[in-house]
Amino acid sequence: MSSVSVKVNSLSSKPYIDILCYPSSDRKVATQRVEELLQLGVSEVIFEGKTKIGRLGLLGKGCVSLAVKAKMNNKILALKIRRTDANRPSMHREAGLHRIANQVDVGPKLHNVSDNFILLDLVIEDGIVDWIRNLKGLGSTARLRNVIQEVLSQAYKLDQAGLDHGELSNLTKHVFVGDKVTIIDFETASQNRRVSNVTSCVQNIFIGGPQASKVRRFLRLKNVEPIIDSIKKYKAERSVKIFESLLLDLKLI
Ligand SMILES: Nc1ncnc2c1ncn2[C@@H]1O[C@H](COP(=O)(O)OP(=O)(O)O)[C@@H](O)[C@H]1O
Ligand SMILES: [Mg+2]
Repeated sequence: MSSVSVKVNSLSSKPYIDILCYPSSDRKVATQRVEELLQLGVSEVIFEGKTKIGRLGLLGKGCVSLAVKAKMNNKILALKIRRTDANRPSMHREAGLHRIANQVDVGPKLHNVSDNFILLDLVIEDGIVDWIRNLKGLGSTARLRNVIQEVLSQAYKLDQAGLDHGELSNLTKHVFVGDKVTIIDFETASQNRRVSNVTSCVQNIFIGGPQASKVRRFLRLKNVEPIIDSIKKYKAERSVKIFESLLLDLKLI
């Protein structure tokens, strides 16, 4: 895999400027962003990853940010770079919502934030949909059960905290599975909506998502109707007791 380490000072020149200021390449913006990165304590950016812009590798690309690896205090972290065409004036709102998630032990740890950047713990796991797709062999069902239980327990913590993630209806890009389970991206999160973290995850994992039939087969859930009923019950009362009976209905405990 190709990997290019670049000192922060060099990011304002080609081809790196195309990522620093994506999708533009404005010199003035770049100079100001380099200064901002230095103030955050970022020393280098490492272009490595499956997503490519030109020949450079990235961790990923969203509507608001690009994510790259970066070095801060000799630690490799994930750096979210605000796109210059983003419909957000800064990263501060996202960081505030991300901190609320961190308070209930959800999301990669947030290290630092500035107007145009957020530094987070690096997540190098597979997306949950690929993880389920690749799942096979001895102990698969037990592993699947553990992972789904962990996703739902994190979703429940967010529900309890009153923070709606907003994009858990599409898990592929936002739930990662490795040694642990990590939910990322609080950019579209809100404290002013009815929370639907648990219900969106259940709906996606068991009913609507690309691997739903595999999940139901592994957990021996014959019909979707009882699952829909359990979701409805949880929607009506998000208590621990009802949450546990949901886990029971889904044959997770
Ligand atoms: N902490 C992280 N570690 C590793 N990859 C990340 C991290 N945060 C984001 N990414 C990658 O970057 C992509 C875009 O990030 P995301 O937070 O979804 O941005 P946006 O706010 O623009 O939607 C993600 O789908 C993921 O692949
Ligand atoms: Mg996203």
